[in-house]
Amino acid sequence: MTPRIRLRPTMQSDSDFVVSLENDPANLPFITPWDRTQHEAAIRFPDMRHFVVEGGAGLEPVGFLILIGCRNPHQSIELKRMVIAAKGQGLGRAALRVAKRVAFDDLGAHRFWLDVKSRNLRAKALYDAEGFVMEGTLREAVRVATRSSSLPAGRESQAAQDFDSLHVLSMLKAEFLQRRADGLEAAA
Ligand SMILES: CC(C)(COP(=O)(O)OP(=O)(O)OC[C@H]1O[C@@H](n2cnc3c(N)ncnc32)[C@H](O)[C@@H]1OP(=O)(O)O)[C@@H](O)C(=O)NCCC(=O)NCCS
Repeated sequence: MTPRIRLRPTMQSDSDFVVSLENDPANLPFITPWDRTQHEAAIRFPDMRHFVVEGGAGLEPVGFLILIGCRNPHQSIELKRMVIAAKGQGLGRAALRVAKRVAFDDLGAHRFWLDVKSRNLRAKALYDAEGFVMEGTLREAVRVATRSSSLPAGRESQAAQDFDSLHVLSMLKAEFLQRRADGLEAAA
């Protein structure tokens, strides 16, 4: 059973939480962080939905996620970012299921998509398990931040040229409805 979570719209007063979670060393390798003003703009911009994920007994903030393209005429909505503080407890899966419902049921998505760095094995495993279909790979599409201090002397320039690939995955509305009919989209 997935843990109980809910999404609520992010408020400006959540900015410290969002920015600090994004800059946590446990998350930085897997995302390209935004600065505070980008998050604050995303909260206001009608094409985006910025949510705090609340969970646990007291429904305290446990993460955040961002949807973009919510008004796009192609009904193709992107899960731009999802970050969960306490990993491996099923909160990410639960949040992803709610995000699907928001995208398909509330926002009328025909296609719900995302990209994930190839080295992000945990997130990729989650998206695969949750029925997202691999569309392709953007090869060496993003620079990877590697702390030169953690490298042996003389390898700093090599780190500067370190790139990762992005896998693009998606789910179509018909696939989502089929999963729901098969009982694979159960809420907490
Ligand atoms: C990716 C993330 C959102 C997933 O949330 P989570 O709460 O940790 O994930 P869950 O506990 O729901 O795990 C779901 C699945 O992920 C997979 N998984 C979990 N930990 C894993 C690990 N260490 N390695 C590989 N797969 C793993 C499993 O398939 C798991 O399903 P299972 O419990 O049935 O085996 C979260 O780990 C996170 O914030 N990571 C850093 C930021 C990030 O990578 N965001 C996504 C960018 S695309």
